Amino acid sequence: MKNLIKLLSFVFFAGTILMSCEGPEGTAGTDGMDGTAECMACHNEGTAFAAKEAQFDVSAHSLGTYFSRGGQCAGCHSTEGFLARMDFTSINEIDGLGQDNQSPIACRTCHNVHLAYDETDWALTFTDQVTETIFGYEDGDGHESYSFGDYGNGNMCLQCHQARDRGNVPTATETADVTTGSTHWGPHYGVQGNVLQASGGVNILGDLSYPSTTGGHAGIDDACISCHMSGGNHSLEVSYDGCITCHTAGDAEDKVEDLEEEIHDLLFDLGKELAIAGVMTADVEDTDTVGYEPKNMTMTADQAKGVYNYMVVYQDHSYGVHNPTYIRALLNNSLDLVTAK
Ligand code: HEC
Ligand code: HEC
Ligand code: HEC
Ligand code: HEC
Ligand code: HEC
Ligand code: HEC
Repeated sequence: MKNLIKLLSFVFFAGTILMSCEGPEGTAGTDGMDGTAECMACHNEGTAFAAKEAQFDVSAHSLGTYFSRGGQCAGCHSTEGFLARMDFTSINEIDGLGQDNQSPIACRTCHNVHLAYDETDWALTFTDQVTETIFGYEDGDGHESYSFGDYGNGNMCLQCHQARDRGNVPTATETADVTTGSTHWGPHYGVQGNVLQASGGVNILGDLSYPSTTGGHAGIDDACISCHMSGGNHSLEVSYDGCITCHTAGDAEDKVEDLEEEIHDLLFDLGKELAIAGVMTADVEDTDTVGYEPKNMTMTADQAKGVYNYMVVYQDHSYGVHNPTYIRALLNNSLDLVTAK
C-alpha cells in the first residue's frame, strides 16, 4: 500500500513537471526529456535540495506555530510579507497583501526559486547589512532605529530576528510613569539580534557594566549562522563545533548548562519581585515553568524598566547564551533597581 502511494505520487509529480516544462513558464526546458533531467537535478533523492528539505522540515521555521495573516506581522511571519518588505522601514508594501495571498516560511523566503533552474538559484534573497530596524524601532537604550553590524549571510536572520516596537519603552533615565498598554508588552520573540549586540533592553546603570556592541559572541562572523546553521544545517540545531575557536573543547556545552541555570534563577527572582509589586502576573497556565507576564496598566518608570528587561531575557529564549555579560548585567541591575527601598 505504501509503495503504491509512493508510485502514484511519483507519477503525479513527473506529470506536474512535464506539464510545467511544456507550459509557457517552462523556460528551462521546452523539450520534455531535457526539462525533466534538469528538474530532477533538484527534485530527486540524494540532491542538495532533498537534504536541505529534510533538515528544514524538522526546523521551527517549518513547524512554526504561528503564521501571519495580516498587518505588520506578515513582514516576519509570511514569505510574501518578508519579500515585500526588505527595507523594513515601512508597512506600506505589505498593507495590500490579502490574507489568502500569504504562505508560511519556506525555501523561497530565503532563496530564489525557479529563476535560472540551476544552483545559482540558491543565492539568498537578502544579504544587505541591516541598518534600519523595523519601523524605526527605538529601544530602551535610546537607540533610534538600531543599526546592526554586518554579519554577511547572517544579515538575513536579523531582518526577522530583531525587536519589534510595542510602544512606550522607557529609556534608562526615564522618570515618568509608563503605561504598558498590553499583557504582551515587550520586545517580541525576535529580540535575539539586538541581544547579541548588547542592545534591546533598558540598559539601566547599576553595579554591573554592559559589554561593547562588538565583543564576545557579537564578534562571530555570520553570527546566527555559525551557531545555528553550521555546515548549512537547516534544522537550526546548535552546533558546538565552532565554539573551540574561543572556548576549550567540550567546555562551551557545560558552560551553557550552568549559564542557563544561573539566568533562569535570576529571571524568576526578578519576575517574583515584580509580581509582589503588582505589575506582573504569574502565568498559572504554564505549570512547568510558571513564568510571569506584564500587566496592562500604568506603573512607575523603574517598575516598567524591570518588566521590559524581564521580557527581553525571556523572549530571547537563549537564557543568556547570546550575550552572557549583557544579560547578567541587565538582570542584576534590574533586580537591584526594583528591590531598592
Ligand atoms: C535548483 C533547484 C531546482 C530546480 C532545477 C527545479 N526546481 Fe522546482 N523547486 C525548487 C524549490 C527550492 C522549490 C520550492 C520547494 C518548497 O518551497 O518547498 C520548488 C518547487 C517546485 C514545485 C512545487 C510548486 C512550487 O512552485 O512551489 C514544482 C511543481 C516544481 N518545483 C517543478 C519544477 C520543474 C518542472 C522543474 C524543471 C523545469 C524544476 N522544478 C526545477 C527547486 C528547483
Ligand atoms: C522571514 C523571517 C525569518 C527569517 C529570515 C529567519 N527567521 Fe528564524 N524564525 C522566524 C520565526 C517566525 C520563527 C518562529 C516560528 C514559530 O515558532 O512560529 C523562527 C524561529 C527560529 C529559531 C527557533 C528554533 C526553535 O527551536 O525554537 C531559530 C534558532 C532561528 N529561527 C534561527 C534563524 C536563523 C539562523 C536565520 C537566518 C539564516 C533565521 N532564523 C531567519 C522568522 C525568521
Ligand atoms: C520583526 C519581525 C517580527 C514581527 C514584525 C512579528 N514577529 Fe512574531 N516572531 C518573530 C520571530 C523571529 C519569532 C520566533 C523567535 C523564537 O522562536 O524564539 C516570533 C514568534 C512569534 C510567536 C511565538 C510562536 C511560537 O512558536 O511560540 C507568536 C505567537 C508571534 N510571533 C506572533 C506575532 C504577531 C501576532 C505579530 C504581529 C502583531 C508578530 N508576531 C510580528 C518575529 C516577528
Ligand atoms: C530562513 C532562511 C532559509 C530558508 C527558509 C531556507 N534556507 Fe537554504 N540557506 C539559507 C542560508 C542562510 C544558507 C547559507 C548557509 C551558510 O552561509 O553556510 C543556505 C544554504 C542553502 C543551500 C546551499 C547552497 C550552496 O551554495 O551551497 C541549499 C542547497 C539550500 N540552502 C536549500 C534550501 C532548501 C531546499 C530550502 C527549503 C526546503 C531552504 N534552503 C530554506 C537560508 C535558508
Ligand atoms: C554563540 C553561538 C550562538 C549565536 C551566535 C547565536 N545563537 Fe541562538 N542560541 C545558541 C544557544 C546555545 C541557544 C540555547 C540552546 C538551544 O536552543 O539549543 C540558542 C537559542 C536560540 C533560540 C531559542 C531556541 C529555542 O529552542 O527556543 C533562538 C530563537 C535563537 N537562538 C536564535 C538566534 C539568532 C536569530 C541569532 C543571531 C542573531 C543567534 N541565535 C545567535 C547559540 C547561539
Ligand atoms: C569569537 C569567540 C567565541 C566563540 C566562537 C564562542 N564564544 Fe562563547 N564566549 C566568548 C567570550 C569572549 C565570552 C565571555 C564574554 C561574554 O559574555 O560574551 C563567552 C562566554 C560564553 C558563555 C558564558 C560563560 C560564563 O559563564 O560566563 C557561554 C555559555 C558560551 N560563551 C557559550 C558558547 C557556545 C555554546 C559557543 C559555540 C556554539 C560559543 N560560546 C562560541 C567568545 C566566543
